[in-house]
Amino acid sequence: MFTPDLFAPEANGTADAQLITQLRETLHAHAHRYYVLDAPTVPDAEYDRLFRQLQELEARHPELASPDSPTQRVGGKTLDQFAQVRHAVPMLSIKTETDTRASGVENFDARIRRELGLTDTDPAIDYVAEPKFDGLAMSLRYEHGVLVQAATRGDGEMGEDVTQNIRTIGQIPLKLPAGVPELLEVRGEVYMRRDDFEALNERQRQRIAAGERGEKTFVNPRNAAAGAVRQLDPAIAAQRPLSFFAYGLGDITPVGQGGPQWPTHYDLLQTLKSWGFPVCALVKQAQGAIELVAFYEAIGQQRDGLGYDIDGVVYKVNSLALQRQLGFVTREPRWAVAHKFPAQEMLTTVLAIDVQVGRTGKLTPVAKLAPVFVGGVTVTNATLHNDDVIPEVVSVLLEKRQGIPEPFTMPRTCPVCGSVALREEGEADYRCTGGLFCSAQRKQAILHFAQRRAVEVEGLGDKLVDQMVDAGIIRTLPDLYKLGLTALANLDRMADKSAQNIVDALEKSKRTTLPRFLFGLGIRHVGEATAKELARHFGKLDAIMAASEEQLLEVADIGPIVAKSLRTFFDQPHNREVVEQLRACGVSWPEGEPAPQAVHIFSGKTFVLTGTLPSLGREEAKALIEAAGGKVAGSVSKKTSYVVAGAEAGSKLDKAQELGITVLDEAALLNLLAGEA
Ligand code: IVH
Repeated sequence: MFTPDLFAPEANGTADAQLITQLRETLHAHAHRYYVLDAPTVPDAEYDRLFRQLQELEARHPELASPDSPTQRVGGKTLDQFAQVRHAVPMLSIKTETDTRASGVENFDARIRRELGLTDTDPAIDYVAEPKFDGLAMSLRYEHGVLVQAATRGDGEMGEDVTQNIRTIGQIPLKLPAGVPELLEVRGEVYMRRDDFEALNERQRQRIAAGERGEKTFVNPRNAAAGAVRQLDPAIAAQRPLSFFAYGLGDITPVGQGGPQWPTHYDLLQTLKSWGFPVCALVKQAQGAIELVAFYEAIGQQRDGLGYDIDGVVYKVNSLALQRQLGFVTREPRWAVAHKFPAQEMLTTVLAIDVQVGRTGKLTPVAKLAPVFVGGVTVTNATLHNDDVIPEVVSVLLEKRQGIPEPFTMPRTCPVCGSVALREEGEADYRCTGGLFCSAQRKQAILHFAQRRAVEVEGLGDKLVDQMVDAGIIRTLPDLYKLGLTALANLDRMADKSAQNIVDALEKSKRTTLPRFLFGLGIRHVGEATAKELARHFGKLDAIMAASEEQLLEVADIGPIVAKSLRTFFDQPHNREVVEQLRACGVSWPEGEPAPQAVHIFSGKTFVLTGTLPSLGREEAKALIEAAGGKVAGSVSKKTSYVVAGAEAGSKLDKAQELGITVLDEAALLNLLAGEA
């Protein structure tokens, strides 16, 4: 230990400087043993004592402050927003294999072998198998061994600078040992352990019980982790315990400039571990498909007992030279695949079957379940009708049944308004015939009108609409624009400020466009694309309202069903009345001239978008396709002309391949569009 010489202030300063350096190193080492190795060698009290000693010394020597000091994990300022970061090396995603049988693995291995030009007599490929952690991808940038930036994945090209929050994660080194490359980006997953998640939610429940405002519990560890990473106040982020696993690299000093090179991915992970990064102990090298299948099964069995959530496993070709040879397709490496686990199934009791009434009166049975925790959320409702929606009831275990349940039949009257429920010929669904007399349909109609893609009344959500309709202050759409501040402020839990916000939002919504207004009316079979086409073709609302079925049929993509539905809607006096009243309330839009039917390259073509495109946002891609005359649909069918697939495309891509539909990536889409221009 140093004996400070009180008569030599300079020497004293030097001694402090040395002590500070030494304390920082000791504390870094203790933190690594505590957080990463889970094997502390000193009691917490000793760590705290050294920590305080360092804090005091640093307070006396502000000139020796350093961002990589263990005292500097928390302390950033609250931000207004996160800065955007361009990733020097894009953050990729991985293709997902949804076939949960051994064939899922075998297909991947066979593809790799084929792409490498191997034959059956060549030896098995060397892979690394890792859990697929259910958290958020993070890129950690170190310059000269010091953490300078942590960025989220974002769209893969641009992420957000969340350095302040990431610094609070004890498992992430602020400073690396001597000898690491000058520039190093470590990529991995930030996640929350299940026990930390439970403890956090317990604290949140106490806060809520104590009446603290704005506090909530979290649905699952992933959501809690995402919330913590995107906290603008780093002091709050510091109270949300996060963990980290490293699984790869981003940018790094090139080999030509003295950067390191590893023969395999596994070697790289071992090096990252030696530099102080947590690397998951379950990561394993595996030879060929057989060992990958064994890994998949072993991890599947351990899954529930792990301290953290995973949603599958990832297989990577181990040799970095072969990885380079295999390369990428769009934003996904050819050398890796994520293998999903089977959807989780749980046993529970159907307590009752409720019938919900949709916007168009459609009756949908919904199972009310005894709450079950499955796939990271508590489920209390499940669909019985529509098999694309999760959660669903997979099967009924008759042998578990107690007593004889009442058989379910679709009610013949609407459970909300009592109107007759009818099934139209050739249709599967029963519908309430109450129309806007039915409060359930009225609520849905208002929400439909107010949604972002229609006239957009910001802040008008389902809770508020429920209240308004139940309180009787709204019966029809135009009533929305007759609401006064007082009527709104009198609603439950509505502060003056929020009431004023709604009034302002309503005022703003009055200036709209014809397609938005038409779509907002909620005419059956008139979606956004049809509304746009109608507006383009006729230019003015009155022309649409006056058009005969024959005239409507002249519009591109409008068939007899849509034409009839439009006519039926506008033939009803009360619907015309609604339109007139809305106009009288000041709802307006620029009207145009009828546009002759231009032929665009995508006229008559239907597109389905799936996955994340490298540069275009979903809405952007949609707008481009529509501008070129195409339509964008939500699901793949035989009628789909093209599927545009980006990163992490899921079942829609599989369906497209099954049906032999042409799949485009973003570049191919842009190429076709270039033809339009
Ligand atoms: S490697 C080149 N390894 O999965 C591939 N990703 O679709 C780069 N993830 O957002 C990623 N566990 O956050 C890799 N062991 C693992 C992973 C993993 C989870 C996440 C990652 C990314 C997504 C990729």
